[in-house]
Amino acid sequence: MKTENPFKFGTVAHGPYFTNRSSELQFVAAALNGANHLVVISPRRYGKTSMIHQALQLTDRPKIELDLMMVTSTTDFAAQLLKQVYKIYPFQRIKGFIQQFKVIPVINLNPVTNTVEITFSAEAAGKPVLDDVLNLIENLASADKRSIVVLDEFQEIHHLDRKLAPGMRSVMQHHKNINYILMGSQESMMREIFEQKKSPFYHFGLMMNLDRIPHDEFESYLSKGLEQFTPQSSDLARSILEKTGSHPYYTQQLGWFVWEQLRNYPDHPDPVNSAIENIEAMHDLDYERMWNNLNKTDQKLILGLIHENTPLLSGQNLVKYGIGASSTAFSAIKRLMHKGYIIKAGQQYVPEDPFFAGWLLKKRGESII
Ligand SMILES: Nc1ncnc2c1ncn2[C@@H]1O[C@H](COP(=O)(O)OP(=O)(O)OP(=O)(O)O)[C@@H](O)[C@H]1O
Ligand SMILES: [Mg+2]
Repeated sequence: MKTENPFKFGTVAHGPYFTNRSSELQFVAAALNGANHLVVISPRRYGKTSMIHQALQLTDRPKIELDLMMVTSTTDFAAQLLKQVYKIYPFQRIKGFIQQFKVIPVINLNPVTNTVEITFSAEAAGKPVLDDVLNLIENLASADKRSIVVLDEFQEIHHLDRKLAPGMRSVMQHHKNINYILMGSQESMMREIFEQKKSPFYHFGLMMNLDRIPHDEFESYLSKGLEQFTPQSSDLARSILEKTGSHPYYTQQLGWFVWEQLRNYPDHPDPVNSAIENIEAMHDLDYERMWNNLNKTDQKLILGLIHENTPLLSGQNLVKYGIGASSTAFSAIKRLMHKGYIIKAGQQYVPEDPFFAGWLLKKRGESII
């Protein structure tokens, strides 16, 4: 009897927690083995970081990663990137290049904590220092050991500075010793950056749309994790996937809670719905806050999508839910997608969090379970 929950959610899935993605991993390896860059797009928590980490584990090339969601300005972008460079190259190798920077950074090495603090005295240094850091990474790499630079939530460059993209592209396009992996979860912004002809990053790399984990593979993974409790673990697995629509994060989350239910009550008659109740209770406050932050049109649209389960709301439904014109519905969809509250699953728009719908209907006394 295993005593450790075999499911994991929230952080990067690795080792036994990582499943499938074999064709995607092959695609990433092919891109990295050649001179191509890669652009990975998926809604939040579909498994971009997990998949890329898995692929990177298979190579001993220098890897530099940065999440652009965490940077506050172009200068901070440069400083954080330089910090990552320090983690993998000895100071002696970097020193000479840094002396050539347009703005020299202030670097504090803490030998006790083994950490490094980097600041550029001129906060306005921005673009030129970022160019310097990107060129530094190129110079440190070599043709036979090219570096891999992963920039997560890449669409954030637009929030840092609208003029950043053309400048970055003009520097990055000359790099021969780097494979860039640019990832993002704001689908419309990512497409604007990489698929619009007028965008500087148009056709910059191979495009990869990361989808959900295929149903059957996910089913065997879940079933295996639950088999110690019941010979019907495949039924449980299917029931979990039906609730989560195979969304990687929410499937692992529900799997985790179902496993805990069964550990505590091995004869539980309905562990899946009971686990969902636990999840809803845990998120009660978040869900309430999220709902209250929506304007009335967005609230009506979400209710309409949950109830009608159709690709788009028909004219009749727009009246039924008091939304009004279809243009109003379209802008609400755009807004809600942008905020990450709804996602497109197949032809359908659905709440990003599959447990939110159940919570909402229960709160409104329209419970479905
Ligand atoms: N290949 C996988 N096998 C099993 N579970 C996975 C897999 N990929 C992702 N998950 C589940 O989804 C969760 C989110 O994964 P990950 O953080 O890699 O997604 P992401 O797309 O990078 O998310 P974010 O948009 O927050 O950056 C993981 O914690 C794990 O529970
Ligand atoms: Mg991620």
